Amino acid sequence: MNEQSDSPAQDWSAEGYARNARFVAELGEPVVDWLAPKPGERVLDVGCGDGALTASIVARGADVVGVDSSLSLVEAARARGIDARVMDVYALPFRQEFDAGFSNAALHWMREPDLALANIARALKPRGRFVGEMGAQGNVAAISTAILAVLRAHGIDGEARWPWYFPTPAEYAERLETHGFVVLRMELIPRPTPLPTGMRGWLDTFANPFLAGVNDDERGAILEEVTSLLAPSLRGRAGAWTADYVRLRFAAQLER
Ligand code: BEZ
Repeated sequence: MNEQSDSPAQDWSAEGYARNARFVAELGEPVVDWLAPKPGERVLDVGCGDGALTASIVARGADVVGVDSSLSLVEAARARGIDARVMDVYALPFRQEFDAGFSNAALHWMREPDLALANIARALKPRGRFVGEMGAQGNVAAISTAILAVLRAHGIDGEARWPWYFPTPAEYAERLETHGFVVLRMELIPRPTPLPTGMRGWLDTFANPFLAGVNDDERGAILEEVTSLLAPSLRGRAGAWTADYVRLRFAAQLER
């Protein structure tokens, strides 16, 4: 899931991901519905993570290959019986092999979207479909602004470490078309997302690219400050946290 080539590496742990981010796969089921995989179809799951959602595509009868750059997550996917491979989306080797491509909550880690889309398009058979969901412009805006503000107070340039790509629908549609796709459907979905392990659990799993090289004490202090800055806006009265997610969901098909 960590595909950014020009920013600090995300250090995924399958165990931490399972604890703090199970909701990612659970909320991804509607994206599988958009894919509507058919028995026997070959599907490429780009950024398959620990395979929790890949398993749902497999359960619908498709023959799925999952790729992810994290060994820890790929091992977790393999433990579910998934054909998962450690692979960089910027170096995908596939040529016209898959009936469909799929991606949930991974494309926003790919800061070179054109290279990713070119490789995904090349992996698909003629008229192949590509269905995905990612963060859109404005995704985690409050969370990321708090991170940047606290890092600045600690003398760290958070913008230089920015790890995500959150496009507008118009921008991503244009990119899809540039790579030969026709956009069949695209939706911008504001989706305040409950965080089962709170803001600290979310930050521990997803904010690592901002904290590379920061020692443990300062890291702990930064994350505490970010959490307390966000509490008035994202923590409810009963103490439950919600992340300010905005999704971009699309279904596209190669024109030829
Ligand atoms: C997301 O799924 O939108 C997301 C996950 C981690 C970091 C940023 C965004």
